Amino acid sequence: MIRILFVCLGNICRSPTAEGVMRSLVQAQGKEDGFFLDSAGTGDWHVGQAPDRRAQAACRRAGVDISMLRARQVCAEDFFRFDLILACDRENLRDLKRMAPAQCPARVRMLRDYSRVAPGSDVPDPYYGGDEEFDATVQACREACEGLLEQLVTAKTR
Ligand code: 4NP
Repeated sequence: MIRILFVCLGNICRSPTAEGVMRSLVQAQGKEDGFFLDSAGTGDWHVGQAPDRRAQAACRRAGVDISMLRARQVCAEDFFRFDLILACDRENLRDLKRMAPAQCPARVRMLRDYSRVAPGSDVPDPYYGGDEEFDATVQACREACEGLLEQLVTAKTR
């Protein structure tokens, strides 16, 4: 079982999208039992809220339902409960590294390190954008999650 936490700023746009997209990819391969997936925000403004309606709609257009997710903030235990903590952008990565305990067992990386299309780049914040930006978020998350899943499955079968 691999435990993965997706992290953005508010946990209402990018990281719930990444969580939902990754879950749908994992389900499509029948590998649900091998994964524990969650998402969280570095900030606390939206704690308890459902994903942004525009993120829900963009995910729905891609066949992914994220309506049941609720925002929460990253906490100290996350660095012990997860194997992999994936930041949507550089600012999230910097904040996570600042929060991480000295002996941090979790690996903290950029989500798009796993993308073959735009490796290492930020998932741009769509919050002040429109439907196009939210569709681009889904696409960026999909490319990264496909690369991530491929790498994890390859690592397991090696
Ligand atoms: P997210 O997007 O980090 O992808 O969830 C944002 C959500 C809320 C805010 C900023 C970004 N905000 O400023 O409230």
